[in-house]
Formats: sequence, C-alpha cells, structure tokens
Amino acid sequence: MPGTARPITLYGEPVLHAPCATVTEFGDELSALIDDMFASMYAANGVGLAANQIGVDARVFVYDCADETDEHRIGHVVNPVLEPAGLARELDLDDEGCLSVPGEFAELGRPATATVTGVDKAGQPVTVTAGGMLGRCLQHEVDHLDGTVFVDRLPVKARRRILKAAGLGAHE
Ligand code: NI
Repeated sequence: MPGTARPITLYGEPVLHAPCATVTEFGDELSALIDDMFASMYAANGVGLAANQIGVDARVFVYDCADETDEHRIGHVVNPVLEPAGLARELDLDDEGCLSVPGEFAELGRPATATVTGVDKAGQPVTVTAGGMLGRCLQHEVDHLDGTVFVDRLPVKARRRILKAAGLGAHE
C-alpha cells in the first residue's frame, strides 16, 4: 500500500471550516497526496476522507465504501461538484459520523442518492452516482471541501452535545 498516514484534523481547526482551493496541478504531487489520503483513511478506519482532513487545502476526496447494492467501491474525485438533488429527491435518515469528530454519530437526513462529477488525478472526467452509504459519503465529502462538517447541518443543541462528547470546542 503506497502512501503515508497523516494525522486527521479535528473539528475547530481552520482548514476544515473554509472552502478548499481548486486543484490546478495534475502530477506526482497530486498522486502522492491521494496515496496519503487513502493511507490516512484506512489507518483511521474511515470510508471516506477529504484533503482538508489531513490539513491540505485542495478539492480532493477519496472513498472506499459500499453503495446501495452493497457493492464495495473505491475511488477518488478531484474538483468534485455535487449535482443538485432536486425537490422530488427522496430523503434518507441515517446515522452519520466523521473522523474529524471522533467517536460520535448523529442522525442526519440527506438525499438518498447522489451524483458527483469531477476529474481524476490524470485530469480525466469522472462521474460517480450512488445511494446507500456511498451516496451519503459523496455528499459528506463534498461538504468537507466546501468547509462544512456534518455536525454543522445539525440543530445547534445536537451539535453542541456531540462536540462536547467528542471533547471538541465549537467552531463559532
Ligand atoms: Ni467527515
């Protein structure tokens, strides 16, 4: 397994609370970053990881996650864009967690399926469509790259309770 696991940034660290920079250089450095992101995700037993979760300000995420058919899918997306869900889209209510808020989970409604478009590390177009855990993961990771952690989507009381339980301070 190439790559080196790096420490996971925690809720409250500024890099998690600002939009990440668009990737413009496609080369060895980007490949090495993606390798490190996979190594970091696996070391932390995660199913997805955004670059700012290892302190890097770049619009990239990786995933290794089951979709709605329990098929295990592994990949990365550079400069991802989440397609708008649309008003008719079914909402799925399920527990969600994050390596940057360790040990805590909360129920959060999200569209049941998601489509993300972007490019791969060679700059070639990619589209990922999924439901199930991967569908949730795709939305969660694009949120990260926009500076939003899942607890930011919870009612304020639930957010405070979870951050306190995780031993973390509020961002605001
Ligand atoms: Ni997360």
